[in-house]
Amino acid sequence: MTGNQGKSENQRLAEIAQMVENAIEGYLSRESGIPETLRKAIFYSLRAGGKRLRPGLVVLSCQACGGEEIIAVPAAAAIEMVHTYSLIHDDLPAMDNDDYRRGQPSNHKVFGDGIAILAGDALLTYAFTTLARHIRKAALVKELVLELSEAAGAGGMIGGQVEDLDHQNRSGDLETVQYIHTHKTAMMFRAAARMGAICADAARREIDTLGDYGLKVGLAFQIVDDILDITGSAEELGKSPQKDVQAGKLTYPAVMGLEQSQEHAESLMREAIEALADFGERAEPLRELVRMLIKRKR
Ligand code: IPE
Ligand code: IPE
Ligand code: MG
Ligand code: MG
Ligand code: MG
Repeated sequence: MTGNQGKSENQRLAEIAQMVENAIEGYLSRESGIPETLRKAIFYSLRAGGKRLRPGLVVLSCQACGGEEIIAVPAAAAIEMVHTYSLIHDDLPAMDNDDYRRGQPSNHKVFGDGIAILAGDALLTYAFTTLARHIRKAALVKELVLELSEAAGAGGMIGGQVEDLDHQNRSGDLETVQYIHTHKTAMMFRAAARMGAICADAARREIDTLGDYGLKVGLAFQIVDDILDITGSAEELGKSPQKDVQAGKLTYPAVMGLEQSQEHAESLMREAIEALADFGERAEPLRELVRMLIKRKR
């Protein structure tokens, strides 16, 4: 048993977030030769907060497979870098054109489009530097690089973002929106869960099971993101609500309505918990995370 019993899931996630944030600060502050504006732009978005769910998934999956949390920290840091880059680019005028993110003006509103693009590029690149430099076992570096690059790349998040843009102001069916959400969001959740298991040197079957769990959680997470865009407030979300209808985005509520979207997200969350059936007590924090996410307001 770990020494984390009795802590609420929120406390546990906050602890992991702190650990991962400290690691990122440590890595980056030791880098010389980064132009000052770029450094400021990178830290501006990293330090703005964010729920740090993907790092949470990495660390909790590692522990679910019997690994020490500390060995998962570089992988958790790397995926948060990729995620933060994806948000900076997602907000650009050429994409979702959002002025507000993580409770403050978007990166490009402060630093301009050019620097925002480059800060995103730098974060994406640095994620792989982080894996190569800070994961101790060389064999794991290769696996982690593959997981993260495939999830973030053309067949993953970028593919989803492309279809997201391409379907603006067009009607679409359930299959299409499922493709978009699975690729732009769920594959990174899947990667987070798999990366944690890989850090723990878990068996293939455990890695795959946690990946299935992550994919379902990620799809449900993006459906809830669509719902909150309609029902949430700027204060709660830290980003501007009501943007999806304005932008003509293909979302779950657009395809199946609010109520059915909520039901679908809840049923995916239940399936995610069921996927963990073979894991015992060690996976309880992963189950608790799902219960938390279904009720989230931010
Ligand atoms: C926002 O992700 C983008 C989506 C995939 C919906 P998060 O809601 O996890 O963003 P942060 O990291 O908390 O800001
Ligand atoms: C973003 O999806 C997914 C990413 C890969 C960044 P959204 O465009 O719905 O995310 P928000 O609502 O801007 O956070
Ligand atoms: Mg978007
Ligand atoms: Mg967006
Ligand atoms: Mg959204």
